[in-house]
Amino acid sequence: GGRTLAATPPMGFNNWNAFGCDVNEALIKETADIFVSSGLKDAGYRYVNIDDCWSMRERGADGRLVPDPVKFPNGIKGVADYVHSKGLKLGIYGDAGTKTCAGYPGSLGVEDLDAQTWADWGVDYLKYDNCHNQSDGSREDYVRRYTAMRDAIDKTGRPIVYSICEWGTSQPWLWAEGVGHLWRTTGDISDNWSSLRSIIRQNAPLAQYAGRGHWNDPDMLEIGNGEMTDTEYHTHMSMWAMMAAPLIIGTDLRAASPETMAILGDQDIIAIDQDPLGVQGSVVSDTGGLMVLDKPLANGDRAIALYNSTDSPATVTVAASATGLKPARAYRLKNVWTGDTLQVRSTISAGVPAHGTVVYRVRPVDDPRTVPPAVAVGAS
Ligand code: DGJ
Repeated sequence: GGRTLAATPPMGFNNWNAFGCDVNEALIKETADIFVSSGLKDAGYRYVNIDDCWSMRERGADGRLVPDPVKFPNGIKGVADYVHSKGLKLGIYGDAGTKTCAGYPGSLGVEDLDAQTWADWGVDYLKYDNCHNQSDGSREDYVRRYTAMRDAIDKTGRPIVYSICEWGTSQPWLWAEGVGHLWRTTGDISDNWSSLRSIIRQNAPLAQYAGRGHWNDPDMLEIGNGEMTDTEYHTHMSMWAMMAAPLIIGTDLRAASPETMAILGDQDIIAIDQDPLGVQGSVVSDTGGLMVLDKPLANGDRAIALYNSTDSPATVTVAASATGLKPARAYRLKNVWTGDTLQVRSTISAGVPAHGTVVYRVRPVDDPRTVPPAVAVGAS
C-alpha cells in the first residue's frame, strides 16, 4: 500500500523552521485547529508534523522510543488521536543513525521496532534524517539504511508517507525513487533571500527525477518567518508550486499575518503544485539570473513562471514555441497571483520586480470549437 501515497506533493506543517526543538502538544493541536478554522485544510494541507526533539534522551526498558512527557503529556498517540479527530494526519521525525541531529535516539539497527511503535501511535508521515549515521559515505551504505526503514514501514501495514532527509548523501534523486516518497535535494533552508535563491538554483534542474509518488524536496517553507520581503515570499510559493515541491508550512500559524495566510492558502498556485499530472516544471531558459519554468497541467494548460533572481527589475520573456505549448493562433494568459487575464500572439513576457516571479496559467486559443457560439439574432 505505501507506494501509492503522495500521488501529489505532500502538504502540511512542520515545527522546525519556526520553533526548532521547542515542540509540544499544544503547538501541534493548535496548528491542527488553525488548519481547520483558517481554511488551510480545505485548501489541501493535511499533515501536521513533529520534527526533532520530541522524545526522551533514552529508550524505555522495552527498547521503545519514549515521548518526552513534559512536551507530550498524552504521548504521540494522544496528539495523533486529536489530529485525526480533525480529519488531519500526524507526522513524526526519526534518524537513520544512532542519534538524531539534536542527540535523541536514532533508529539504526532498530528500524522494525521504531516503525512499529510509530504505526502503533497512529503516525502517518515519517521524516527520516541522516545524522550520526556511522556511515562510510558509500551509496550502498545509505541506500541500505534508508531501505531498511522503508521495509520496516511496509511491514507495519500502515500507510506512512516516507520523507527522506538524506542531505548528507550524494544525488538522492538517483537512488531514492522507490525508497521514499520525497527526498531532500539541498541543505537546510533558512529565512533569507540568498538561501532561497540558492535552493531554487539547485532544485530546478532536477525535474526529470520527480513524478507521482516521488518528489524532489527543496525543504520546507519559510513564508511568514519575517526575514524576507513579500515579493520574495511570493517567489518562494510560486517556485515551490512550479517545482511540484512538498508544501510544508514552517511558520507559527497562531501569529501569521493575513498576507502570510493569503500566500499559503492561494488556491490557484496550490492547484499548480497539486496538479494531478504530477510533473515538475522544467527549465526552459536560464540566462543572466532570469529563469523561465514550464509545467504541464492535467487540463492541457501550462503554467509558465518568469523568475527574476537579480537585484534589479527586469523584463522576462519566452517564446511560446520554446515551451511545451502547442502552436496556436493566440494564447490566453491568467496571472495566477493577480487574476488578471490577457491574450498574446506568440510571446509570453512580463516586467518582474527584483527577486520576483510572475506565474501565468496559459491556454492555447486556436480551436474554433472552444469559442462560444454567437447567439443568433432572431433564433427561437
Ligand atoms: C536537519 C534537517 O535538515 C532539518 O530539517 C531538521 O530536521 C534538523 N535536522 C533537526 O535536527
